[in-house]
Amino acid sequence: MKELRIGIVGYGFMGRAHSNAYRQVSQFFDREYRPVLKAVCARNRAKAEAFAANWGWESVETDWRALVDRPDIDAIDICSPNNTHREIALAAAAAGKMVLCEKPLAMNGSEAREMTAAIEQAGVPNLVWFNYRRVPAIALAKQVVDEGRIGRPFHYRAQYLQDWTISPDLPLGGQTLWRLDADVAGAGVSGDLVAHSVDTALWLNGPITEVTGMTEIFVKDRALQDDPTQTKPVTIDDACQFMCRFANGSLGLFESTRYARGRKNYNTLELNGDKASVYFDLEDPHRLQYYNHGDDDHLHGWRSIHVTGFEHPYMKSWWVPGCTIGYEHTFINALADFLHGLETGEETHPNFRDALATQLVLDAVLESARTGQWVSVAADGFATDAAGG
Ligand SMILES: NC(=O)c1ccc[n+]([C@@H]2O[C@H](COP(=O)([O-])OP(=O)(O)OC[C@H]3O[C@@H](n4cnc5c(N)ncnc54)[C@H](O)[C@@H]3O)[C@@H](O)[C@H]2O)c1
Repeated sequence: MKELRIGIVGYGFMGRAHSNAYRQVSQFFDREYRPVLKAVCARNRAKAEAFAANWGWESVETDWRALVDRPDIDAIDICSPNNTHREIALAAAAAGKMVLCEKPLAMNGSEAREMTAAIEQAGVPNLVWFNYRRVPAIALAKQVVDEGRIGRPFHYRAQYLQDWTISPDLPLGGQTLWRLDADVAGAGVSGDLVAHSVDTALWLNGPITEVTGMTEIFVKDRALQDDPTQTKPVTIDDACQFMCRFANGSLGLFESTRYARGRKNYNTLELNGDKASVYFDLEDPHRLQYYNHGDDDHLHGWRSIHVTGFEHPYMKSWWVPGCTIGYEHTFINALADFLHGLETGEETHPNFRDALATQLVLDAVLESARTGQWVSVAADGFATDAAGG
């Protein structure tokens, strides 16, 4: 087995999800490369050491530059907040390292363009962790589309709803609430949640050509987490919704918010074509709903496919049919695909260029929200692996 020596930046939510993936992937997937957990980097040494001990990382760095410079590391995994992605990715690419980056790729489209150019010039394998593509039920939806079962697509709609920022007493910034600070997050739900919906949409239904959107900030000022005596105006989008046209002629509708009381991580999609429809809901993650107009009339109805069979995407690597997998497995599946790409020399998607496509859709949505106009999506925003309907 060949070693793939990993250096990871960040030990938060994604640091845990990715560490788990590095530890599990070789046990479940037969791959030529085996990840080696070489070093974790975070600024607080004591916490980083505790994290390293818990997850089996061999060493600790407190400056990501030192991590990037290490000759015993092949791949840099960026699991730190959005405003750090660009600098780390550019340095890693310049050092000839593979780069696996959390989403959103960047703070905005121009950063994402620069990062994509750098990674392509360096010619290093790269991946952006839009993990929902690796939910077996969503991967099955992709298979249904690719098999031509949807027919002519008419509508794509997606929702991504949460409810954790409703309280006006919630502070902003600091270690844990950087998502509410535009200087660190870049944007609000658009970059955090809509980015996932758009990545999946581009994959299933092809490029988006133009958008019209609106955003809202429901709580205008918040206290700072690090200094509650100070307040800062909130400039991230608390809610974002938009309509769009896809290049294949279908219409899209997207809604996202952190103010949908009762919705914790409600992530749905539906695609309607002349032959069939598919529907997915992350709160029922093992099922793909499928309506086939080709069925005999008296049997028409939504079919609820329990996506746990050996014939379903990824599932033959896991348990026996009927046994489910979970959220963390989407990261393991993504990593298994990346390792497969290293073996075959094929690019793994979504890569930086695909994530640039998502970023440019988000830029267009935010510009439309500012101007009140329809906005065309920049031409290099067409994903390389788009289905195209
Ligand atoms: N794929 C997904 O579904 C998903 C889910 C959550 C978060 N994310 C993305 O992952 C990234 C991290 O989010 P998170 O939820 O894990 O955040 P988090 O706040 O839980 O963890 C962030 C980590 O980065 C570290 N960090 C911050 N600045 C650093 C620096 N300059 N050098 C080294 N370490 C630094 C922090 O100490 C912390 O360990 C974000 O880009 C986020 O959008 C993706």
